[in-house]
Amino acid sequence: MTLRSAVWFAGTDEVAVLHRVALRLGPDDLGKPVIGIADTASDLNPCNAGFTALAEQVAEGVRAAGGIPVRFPVMSLGEDLMKPSAMLYRNLVAMELEETVRAYPLDGVVHLANCDKTVPAALMAAASADLPSLLLLGGARSAPEFRGKPLGAGTDLWRALDDRRAGTLDDRGWADLERCLSCAGPGACNVMGTASTLAMLTEALGMALPGTALLDAVGPRIEQAARDTGARVVAMVAADRRPSTVMTQTALDTAIQVLAAIGGSTNAVIHLAAVAGRLGLDASLSRMDALWREVPLLADVEPCGSGLVHQLRRDGGLPTLLAALCGTDPLGAPDPAPGPGRVVDPERDPGPDHGPRSGSDGDPLAQSCGDGRPWREVLDDYPAPGAPGSLIRTRSAPVLPAPTLAAVDGTLAPSGAVIKVAAATPDLLSHTGRAVVFDSYDHMRTRLDDPDLDVSEDDVLVVRGCGPVGVPGMPEWGMAPIPQRLVERGVRDLVRISDGRMSGTSFGTVVLHVAPEAAVGGPLALVRDGDPIRLDVPNRRLDLDVDPAELDRRRGTLAPPASAVHLRGWPRLYADHVLQADQGADLDFLIAPTPAHRRFVDPVVGRS
Ligand code: FES
Repeated sequence: MTLRSAVWFAGTDEVAVLHRVALRLGPDDLGKPVIGIADTASDLNPCNAGFTALAEQVAEGVRAAGGIPVRFPVMSLGEDLMKPSAMLYRNLVAMELEETVRAYPLDGVVHLANCDKTVPAALMAAASADLPSLLLLGGARSAPEFRGKPLGAGTDLWRALDDRRAGTLDDRGWADLERCLSCAGPGACNVMGTASTLAMLTEALGMALPGTALLDAVGPRIEQAARDTGARVVAMVAADRRPSTVMTQTALDTAIQVLAAIGGSTNAVIHLAAVAGRLGLDASLSRMDALWREVPLLADVEPCGSGLVHQLRRDGGLPTLLAALCGTDPLGAPDPAPGPGRVVDPERDPGPDHGPRSGSDGDPLAQSCGDGRPWREVLDDYPAPGAPGSLIRTRSAPVLPAPTLAAVDGTLAPSGAVIKVAAATPDLLSHTGRAVVFDSYDHMRTRLDDPDLDVSEDDVLVVRGCGPVGVPGMPEWGMAPIPQRLVERGVRDLVRISDGRMSGTSFGTVVLHVAPEAAVGGPLALVRDGDPIRLDVPNRRLDLDVDPAELDRRRGTLAPPASAVHLRGWPRLYADHVLQADQGADLDFLIAPTPAHRRFVDPVVGRS
């Protein structure tokens, strides 16, 4: 096959000479594929810091397989430090990657991605550029002990925050916690937060090598994975294996079900929709909800379960989870008993499922994994699910019954919203309460602990103004803390509703991604303190029980969002073109209107 890079390097004219000199290519290098290594290492992003060393391992793998590695820097999206949210820049990095690939003589790409937004940005770019590509995932950080127990990054911080607000964690304990968090080293959060979730989904999509999703961030295993990934992309170039043939609707449906089976981050719902949008595939909330209905919680990992991702990987990681999801557990096992998080829905509850597992049109195990083999051939290399002590359960003995995630809609969310059922309080999944409204994050922080705030444990906290256009960038402000006076009375959960997101390490009865958001005039903008809000997860409803005539009257008094006045540069472009959460919060000019438009149009090669 003719390499794309040959357009730059073949020939004897002065342009080809200049191109070869730029990469110091000799006669023996001509005909070798040029593999880009998109490096997101940065001192500003500890989750991706390990790539400084791993990039050279990838390069070694590329060279050993007969390719030419070229490393280039990419803006690093660090969840810990970026304000207002790394999410504001996900689409920018996806564009940066796509345009870099478009402009340079690359035949394939290894994306080094780990912290939350770097992974979906790489997947979106890979989908749009459509050159042979894999992601090398940067692995999980270690888990130092805090109070005799391995520390789950993020989740244990939120728990400690509640304890601190309740007065059961003193200043010394709080300082101890900070010291422990500082000792964890590089790598992603070690619970099933957004980064670990996206890593599992990337592997399920066939965009990372099997078994590489949850490696330790430092050590020989991830170094080997780096070399193997580099070598594999060289082979993918030879086979012309492109993301558009890897990320099929069946692979996407599998990833959607994996998300439910691991009790994964709600953020992944948006990211999967964005990737699907780039490929012209269907990841609508209605499709996701249909796929989630029969999937129980199979991974016993925080924040929905008890373990950390290091053990999940030792117990088999994604391949073993896929075996559990696809039903290798014995037929005829008893129906799982209702447990916490169970949404009882007799009409929709199919009971134990021993038939085809996918709910999708294709066979998930016939799909190719990242090394090119069908998943069915890979599973034998990994432990079976359900072994004693394993964090990966069988469908007949899950951690929690289905569903673990649900999409709701109704008069308060005409275009839908998402709730992580597995992290919610079962008694609150059907609940009506008075709204207590916060117009912004600052409003919430100042008002929440006001001793005069009229709030009870039956109320519904509404945090609005934090959707894609609000702020802008859809920060993780959706999980409002429990008001101080309620925390002191032992209340640990309330129904909370927001057009924002929440951290994948968070938990609680939190309805997120309400669309359309308040900043574009969605019904959430019309809610006032005291309005009755009805959440009915078994029937997938979220309603504002206020007379429509009154809502029309309120609509006429809405002021334009203040944030829209001050923006310039990237936030201006973003706010003008970002789609709502149910469409993946991508930019309207980047999605694929039809499958025919989804391929990378290469102006140099003239190929699409
Ligand atoms: Fe980067 Fe959690 S903050 S992975």
